[in-house]
Amino acid sequence: MHCTPYQPSDASKPYDQIAHMEYLIDHYSRPSWASLSAHDDQQPRPTSILLTGSTGNLGSYILALLIADPNVARIYALNRSSPKGPAFERVAAQFQKKGLDVAALRSEKVSFIEGDTTKSDLGLNNASLYNEIRDTITIILHNAWPINLRNDLTYFEPQILGLKNLIDLGHASPHASTLRFVFISSFQAYQSWHMHHNALLPEQPINETAVGCGIGYGASKYVAESVRDSALAPTILLGQSQILARSGLNTTAMRLTQLCGTTRADYWSPFEWIPILMSAGVQVGVLPDVAGLMAFVPMDDAAKCVHEIVSCKQVLPAAINVSHPRPISWNILFETINNVLKEQRNLDPLPTMPFSKWLLFLRDSAYLAKIRHPSLMLIPGTRGMAISNDDIVRRGRQDVDHFPKPHLSIDAAETYSSSLRDLKEITPEGVRGWVEYVISMIPNL
Ligand SMILES: NC(=O)c1ccc[n+]([C@@H]2O[C@H](COP(=O)([O-])OP(=O)(O)OC[C@H]3O[C@@H](n4cnc5c(N)ncnc54)[C@H](OP(=O)(O)O)[C@@H]3O)[C@@H](O)[C@H]2O)c1
Repeated sequence: MHCTPYQPSDASKPYDQIAHMEYLIDHYSRPSWASLSAHDDQQPRPTSILLTGSTGNLGSYILALLIADPNVARIYALNRSSPKGPAFERVAAQFQKKGLDVAALRSEKVSFIEGDTTKSDLGLNNASLYNEIRDTITIILHNAWPINLRNDLTYFEPQILGLKNLIDLGHASPHASTLRFVFISSFQAYQSWHMHHNALLPEQPINETAVGCGIGYGASKYVAESVRDSALAPTILLGQSQILARSGLNTTAMRLTQLCGTTRADYWSPFEWIPILMSAGVQVGVLPDVAGLMAFVPMDDAAKCVHEIVSCKQVLPAAINVSHPRPISWNILFETINNVLKEQRNLDPLPTMPFSKWLLFLRDSAYLAKIRHPSLMLIPGTRGMAISNDDIVRRGRQDVDHFPKPHLSIDAAETYSSSLRDLKEITPEGVRGWVEYVISMIPNL
């Protein structure tokens, strides 16, 4: 199966994102998923995990935890190939940068595999390896996904195909009925939830395409959660299961909140949208005034939650939301920038501007255009966030509303993850470490 880009039935009509999303859900859902292989002997098996995306920020932390976990017997670390070098070396570079134990990557229980999930054999070109993975894995943890706030939904179609191929792998397993399939989703999958509901996002499948509309990245996560078996349509109507759950496998969509720097407090990937916007603000000399609360979870803490939830013994629900139980005000981020600029560079405090106006200010900044600042590419993708931020200001709910929306219910997540339950509030010192790191990355300041 190849990607088959969406063609609207009537090209003269304006683009209809809901129709596009529903096309993808139907196109990549397989009727054959209706029945699971019945020959599973239900014997306990050593935990063997297929993990995608360990070259990334979250994936590398998850991999480190899986390697250190004595209950995990085998890890297949599947990554795409890249001109930047072999997957092993890219993971090792991530470990190095994050202060993780690089030597642990030599553990006999890890196999580094390069492949392509858009291919039905996952691009392994090795039938015996594919069969070995299929026959032994007990968990598929699908974490790889491009975080790209610029491109539209079409850009993400290969990811939906990749998800389908991983579900097919799970179905082909002789242990399909006991296999656990965890998909790392995002709060952005429900980026328009707040426009339709005045409630927390529940930890359950949502069958309401309109709430996933907005930037292509979030819409693609909604679609992924929604890939289904059309033969199970009556089940969907009963509201029992959504997307992945409709795959017939034992699936869980884990919707992560915005992740931030690490608890070591001296690193926040400079390629993430918030560090990019922070650096843009310093460079143009005006900071955004962002309203509301942030429920960010540090990257390494998020990995701990994922690890605990993925490896817990109980049956997991079809959807789990991971968000910080003790959110803090956004203002702390920009106040800290000003404090650090004063102390380290003897600069006067930078003025602030409401977030939506500030984005327009960035767009019009000739200086940023001249230095080709990456923030300029983020502006279209953050427009929806700016609108929801304006809404928080208008309603005067600075101490209640979360930004970006939606605000997630986390009851189930707290049940399965003691790390999440006990997560410490992000401290000013923590924020300071990230700010200092971002400022240190700004050239010629
Ligand atoms: N960061 C957040 O705030 C956040 C919030 C909510 C959910 N999430 C989700 O958490 C997961 C990990 O995010 P992260 O922050 O660790 O991102 P990241 O550092 O950018 O890592 C992404 C991983 O996915 C792989 N990947 C990217 N594009 C791919 C493609 N087209 N085909 C195959 N693999 C691809 C990357 O491989 P390469 O190294 O080859 O690029 C990397 O291993 C993602 O599913 C993301 O949607 C993240």
